[in-house]
Amino acid sequence: MKTNLTTTTPSQLEADCLVVVVLDSSEKDSAEKSEKEKPALSVESADAAVREAAKDVIASGEVKGKSFETTLIHAPAGLKAKRLLLLGGGKKKSFSAVELRKLAGAAVRTLKGKGLRSFAFMIPEMAIAAPDAVRTLVEGAIIGNFDPGYYKSKDKDDQKIDSVTIVVPKTDPALEAALETGRIIGESQNFTRDLVNEPSNRMTPTMMAERAKKMASEVGLVCETYAGDKIKALKMGAFWGVAQGSDEPPALIVLRYDPPGAVADVHLGLVGKGVTFDTGGISIKPSDGMEKMKYDMAGAATMMGAIRAIALLKPKVKVTAIILATENMPSGKAQKPGDVQIAMSGKSIEIINTDAEGRLILADGLAYARQLGCTHLVDAATLTGAVVVALGHVNAGIFASTDEIYERFSKANRQAGEKMWRLPLDDEYKDLIKSDIADMVNAGSRYGGAIFAAMFLKEFAEDTPWIHLDIAGTAWMEENKPWIAKGPSGIALRSLVEFVKGWSA
Ligand code: BES
Ligand code: MN
Ligand code: ZN
Repeated sequence: MKTNLTTTTPSQLEADCLVVVVLDSSEKDSAEKSEKEKPALSVESADAAVREAAKDVIASGEVKGKSFETTLIHAPAGLKAKRLLLLGGGKKKSFSAVELRKLAGAAVRTLKGKGLRSFAFMIPEMAIAAPDAVRTLVEGAIIGNFDPGYYKSKDKDDQKIDSVTIVVPKTDPALEAALETGRIIGESQNFTRDLVNEPSNRMTPTMMAERAKKMASEVGLVCETYAGDKIKALKMGAFWGVAQGSDEPPALIVLRYDPPGAVADVHLGLVGKGVTFDTGGISIKPSDGMEKMKYDMAGAATMMGAIRAIALLKPKVKVTAIILATENMPSGKAQKPGDVQIAMSGKSIEIINTDAEGRLILADGLAYARQLGCTHLVDAATLTGAVVVALGHVNAGIFASTDEIYERFSKANRQAGEKMWRLPLDDEYKDLIKSDIADMVNAGSRYGGAIFAAMFLKEFAEDTPWIHLDIAGTAWMEENKPWIAKGPSGIALRSLVEFVKGWSA
């Protein structure tokens, strides 16, 4: 999708459709409002001709200004655009860049559904700084343009918007830069979603490594990929324990970003769970819904997309992404409940449940990141069903080893407009992972399951400041939303990119 800026007067702009946001500036909440009272609608354009073109339909009372409400006017009087789309944005007082990002996605999804290929979007006249508005608009539009149906031979979803023009008040290099930033982040998020969307027969660990190499060469990252021999040579016994059950070779993928002039003494490690298919192994999963387990590599795809964006945005901080890709399969070679594996760090793990495989591969990923000299760690993983029980499909779970790193991440997370919620890592939970015969078990009671997994990982992050993101409930959208298609969400990428930028010299 092409994105560009224009300073043309909106009413003079020749476009297939001009999109304008309609906000409700009434102070009262709808609950306290009497039935008959109309919302105080503002058509967010400085151009009187645009407001005039919307006047009749607004006066009719048909338009309420509710979020994602769409009203399409054909051949709007006084405008050169062929259509005017009034896009409801909800209450003016709570409107922010987060809402604007979603509105941009909703505009794309509404108009591509009608067969349009291009449109122009007017930046709402409001409190969001213009560069932030441009950036979030572009992000939202690109994210909205993604649909997962590309294996349909007669694809109705394949329809894409080719070009979006953003109407801005004046030319400004800061707006051009914001446009570029938004494009990089939106495209990187879709890069991640593409990987997650692929079925496991088309996204084996080896294929993931190939995608990583291709991406690295496009954006100027150093990429090393290794298979089973190296994993064994590094003594990654926990990772190998999972990988040994599959005929598909595993892949260890290292992507390095080391810019000149990087801030001293900071080396961020991004560790991703890349289980390209999780059958559960010998502790096999029920077949109902098992097809979903192709998205068990979403953490890995997120880290690949994040470092792609970082390579293009060029913050001055050293970052290494470590991706652990494998299938989790039952076979004659598979590990069995009761087996003991020795992780790279030397700690021994009693395997209680072979379906608790993500924590095993991450254990070695975190240890390897520390060996490579990472000073701060973040991992992302579709790790537990328990986090879905706790937080549903709305918030991802955040675990943090220190309040300091949590504050940094949380700030980034707010800026990125992604929903995440912190869960605890108190010492009292440590008893959960005790084993009778080894240093720890990989699974135990079903109570506090997301915390169990995080406590387990903490043993491998050791004293390195660390954030763990459990995205099991949020990496896959269960239904279509006005701003984003059902399917892979690309959650956490924007927060990660913001987090990394926060360290930049
Ligand atoms: N990949 C799953 C977690 C998952 C569940 C991801 C639902 C996405 C949606 C993970 O490997 C797993 O199987 N976890 C088990 C752990 C249990 C055996 C201790 C779980 O959560 O049931
Ligand atoms: Mn599993
Ligand atoms: Zn899994």
